Amino acid sequence: MKVVLVGAGAREHAIAEHLARGASLYSIMDKPHPGILPLSTDSLICDPTDRERVSSWCAENGIELGFVSPDALLEKGVTDILASAGVKVASPLRESARIEWDKNYARNLLLRHKIPGLPGFLLVNDAEEASAFISRMGDVVVKPVGLTGGKGVRIMGEHLNSPEEALAYISELIEKDGHALLEEKLEGEEFTLQAFCDGTRISAMPPVQDHKRAFVGDTGPNTGGMGSYSTGPLLPFMEPGDLEAAKSIMQLTVDAMRSEGNPFRGVLYGQFMLTRGGPKVIEFNARFGDPEAMNALMLLRTPLHEIFQSIPEGNLMGAAFSTDCTVVKYLVPEGYPSAGKKGMKVDVDRQALLKCGGKAYFASVYGEGGAVLTTSSRAVAVASRDASLGHAEEKAECSIRAISGNLWHRPDIGTAALVRKRVEHMGRLR
Ligand code: AMP
Ligand code: GLY
Repeated sequence: MKVVLVGAGAREHAIAEHLARGASLYSIMDKPHPGILPLSTDSLICDPTDRERVSSWCAENGIELGFVSPDALLEKGVTDILASAGVKVASPLRESARIEWDKNYARNLLLRHKIPGLPGFLLVNDAEEASAFISRMGDVVVKPVGLTGGKGVRIMGEHLNSPEEALAYISELIEKDGHALLEEKLEGEEFTLQAFCDGTRISAMPPVQDHKRAFVGDTGPNTGGMGSYSTGPLLPFMEPGDLEAAKSIMQLTVDAMRSEGNPFRGVLYGQFMLTRGGPKVIEFNARFGDPEAMNALMLLRTPLHEIFQSIPEGNLMGAAFSTDCTVVKYLVPEGYPSAGKKGMKVDVDRQALLKCGGKAYFASVYGEGGAVLTTSSRAVAVASRDASLGHAEEKAECSIRAISGNLWHRPDIGTAALVRKRVEHMGRLR
């Protein structure tokens, strides 16, 4: 089986590692990724939206199956390019990835189909409407409608200190995009539920909790995600009914898309806020989460290429997972997130990493003259698993010491103290 993976970050490095175990891996990426390149039978280094080059390279190599991973490439229709070159695809076409790149479409899909978990929301294109919504709702969250790499959302009481500041940001978005999405501010604990989907059925992965804030104690600006943990079939602050409710929302969403003639095939990512009233939908993504992909893939027991193969066939293979705990932590360059230092060397001591029992996945780095160098984004993810969360977290910290460079991370992710805070928070809300 010849499978092509499009995309090159830590998430894709983990996907590549799985695929290469059971299939011949081919990869398409804009620059050579030091982790994916050696796992690949062959790689095409080019702009993945270059239809001509991508199509002819897939044909020449007899590629059978394709998976496009990053949101930006799904929005640009790279899955559609593969499909029109005769490759079977396990990622969504541009129109079904709309669930991610058009937040207003996602909100209205839930509304049309009366799917539970929808927070109050309003798409606005003038400041007066926005002001009326804020007066009615109190604190709101302001979002651009399109993709923002997790960085465009601003929350009243956190990033926006008054209705005036909120209105100023709303006006900025209206000027830029023509509109802004306002939402009721939800209170609770966030979790991610990822599921394989074949257009009809879903096969859910274990829930994961990500940490978007840059600094220790969940402070500072939102980032692409600083790290994540999972604790088997449920997170410590969840009850079985919460997971069932979230799965049902995902299934109903897949049903709704199919009934509208836009079936979702690929990995659906539900980001939920577990509130006093149960899980509410923060957003859907049309792909694996980054870092959450690494948590789930460390536990996956079913060959990934076989699951991918079953998606375009509409005959979804159920995925089996270990019940272990996992911890993923990102190492980021000095100055991240506002001004990550570029071009700095990163060294991974493979022996030391092995001793720690952890793994390292390269993110936004590149190879040059035998060295691995940083960009301004997240550099390396370390990932570990163990029957206990405490041991998984220790393995992750040990793995971090095996990596040298001008890098920092959040030492609190996955620790008992932070998890206890989450459980207490949820306890107060319920
Ligand atoms: P997003 O880019 O949509 O994933 O949002 C980034 C972060 O903003 C989320 O991880 C949440 O922490 C927060 N957020 C988004 N929407 C809401 C909401 N309606 N209520 C409270 N927090 C939210
Ligand atoms: N971890 C958040 C995301 O992948 O969007």
